[in-house]
Amino acid sequence: MVNRRTFTLKLALAIAAAAMTAAATAAAAQTAAGGRTAAGARPRRAVIVFGGSGQLGSEIVRALLGAGHDVTVFIRPSSSRERIAGLPVTLVEGDVTVEADVERALKARRYDVVVDALGRSGADVGFFAISGPHIARWAAATGVRQIVLHSSVGVGASREAYPAELLPRMERLFAAKQVGEEAVIASGVTYTIIRNAVLRDPPEGTSEHARLVHDEKVYGTVSRRGLARLTLGCVDEPDCADKIFHAIDDTLPVFR
Ligand SMILES: NC(=O)c1ccc[n+]([C@@H]2O[C@H](COP(=O)([O-])OP(=O)(O)OC[C@H]3O[C@@H](n4cnc5c(N)ncnc54)[C@H](OP(=O)(O)O)[C@@H]3O)[C@@H](O)[C@H]2O)c1
Repeated sequence: MVNRRTFTLKLALAIAAAAMTAAATAAAAQTAAGGRTAAGARPRRAVIVFGGSGQLGSEIVRALLGAGHDVTVFIRPSSSRERIAGLPVTLVEGDVTVEADVERALKARRYDVVVDALGRSGADVGFFAISGPHIARWAAATGVRQIVLHSSVGVGASREAYPAELLPRMERLFAAKQVGEEAVIASGVTYTIIRNAVLRDPPEGTSEHARLVHDEKVYGTVSRRGLARLTLGCVDEPDCADKIFHAIDDTLPVFR
């Protein structure tokens, strides 16, 4: 009886040790492959999308879900749910301009990735100088591993790429977005900033050819669907770590 119990205990320990070895091997393979599992797939991540009910944000939500990620949408109580209706997402209600709402959302659970796809929805352009720092501060404080921020060509060093004649009426917007970018960069969280100059959405079913360029002088057009695919591609991607990209689709006309 004693022997059988000892054998059962040894067997249980052996199984546990084998499981731990397998987990350690998988973890090592994941690190070696730059965020991928041994099978080459990307691991499932907990992602919160600010602006996830918007035109760009909802495309990003769909792309993330399609890749198997666990998606939460930060949404105002008054926001339309139409674009994300029926999708298997968790909703966290709040207003990004209220810091306590952002703190509560990011403390509610542990997120691996934060995506900022916010638009100001008619608010003053100063919106971006408030939303960016709120998100950056609480992402850093809660151990988020990556922030993907959608920003605009015209901000920072990309000012030179923006049509000079249009700059005067964009000055305040770009200044506010720069505050948001700087907060994300200074947060200490791995960041990926994806700027767009002109957004145009070709009809559903039309193929898109969006690509990221690591050149702040590039100005072009891109679709929200393309931006969503590029966002997904940057989740956990070492080549996107601490980088500022411009997104363009060479098959779309360039508007100025
Ligand atoms: N270059 C271009 O041609 C161009 C054109 C348009 C946009 N953009 C940029 O592209 C990005 C996204 O644009 P979009 O067209 O997808 O925007 P959008 O459809 O207007 O979506 C904006 C999202 O932000 C949310 N939001 C706004 N204020 C909020 C608040 N206080 N708290 C929480 N959520 C809030 C909105 O929710 P509600 O529904 O509650 O407002 C909505 O989900 C922005 O960075 C925008 O500046 C560029």
